[in-house]
Amino acid sequence: KWADVIVIGSANVDYITYVPNLPRPGETVAGTHFETCFGGKGANQCLAAAKLGAKTALVAKVGQDATGDDYLTYLDKNGIIVEHVEQIKDQPTGLAQIAVSDDGENNIIIVAGANACMDGKAITRAKKLIQNSKVLLCQLETNVNATLCALRLFKGISIVNAAPVLKEMPPEIFSSPSIFCVNEVEAAQLTDRDEIKTLQDARAAAIDLIDKGANSVIITLGAQGAVYMSKDNKERCLHVPAEPVDHVVDTSGAGDAFIGALAYHLARFPNLPRERHIYAANSVAAHSIQHRGTQPSFPGEEKAHNNLCMERPEFFE
Ligand code: RIB
Ligand code: NA
Repeated sequence: KWADVIVIGSANVDYITYVPNLPRPGETVAGTHFETCFGGKGANQCLAAAKLGAKTALVAKVGQDATGDDYLTYLDKNGIIVEHVEQIKDQPTGLAQIAVSDDGENNIIIVAGANACMDGKAITRAKKLIQNSKVLLCQLETNVNATLCALRLFKGISIVNAAPVLKEMPPEIFSSPSIFCVNEVEAAQLTDRDEIKTLQDARAAAIDLIDKGANSVIITLGAQGAVYMSKDNKERCLHVPAEPVDHVVDTSGAGDAFIGALAYHLARFPNLPRERHIYAANSVAAHSIQHRGTQPSFPGEEKAHNNLCMERPEFFE
């Protein structure tokens, strides 16, 4: 057994409310509508890669309840290898409470539930499949020690999406993966910055992340696209612009669309330069922010191959 992309990560049910503005502390706002869908960064990224046409596998934990049953059936229907998605007794399936505002911004609260039960045993059981896969993808919504176990035994291209940022970040989480990928908020948190606004801020943060041990860094910057830096050449920061979007509908899940697409393109076109993979991932993320929801907003195979051509990326000193 093998996969293009194997994901070790979370599976949640997303409860999404759409609101005119995100509530401030103590404020009550009237939502306009409500949706329930399958989410969790791990499952989202896996599905994003699967929808583009990757052969995918997910290592995850859900509850031994109706929600867990439904989630398994749904993943399986989408062609994801689910033999390492375990149902846990006495634990609910993880959940996320998400608010999305009219201008497309979001905030998210997660409750781990079964996701917290990810452990080294699960990784050992999936060892063969992990080792036979091309790209390993991890986030930080499941137990970080289990993630580190998987990274240690994997020899291919690995990506850690350090979301959400942990209070204690083990140094190995920076140094183990081939690519360390975060958004601008997470990059700021990890490098003790108030915020990252400009490309110059992003470059400075990327240098700091390389200094923490990262082999290469991608920082996604929303409408500004993404920057990329490799430890072999810290002088060269690459900016890959985003695809322009007229009307942003819902940014929730956009980061996951980006990372799933990145993994798909790395697995299928390993010899292309990184900027091409990032460009393609940007284009998939741009699609997702123009559609509602997390997983329902991810594009299918029609988006997989037509977005690998790009204008020359910018390098800046
Ligand atoms: O990145 C978006 C995801 O974060 C949501 O699907 C939610 O479940 C949380 O994990
Ligand atoms: Na979306």
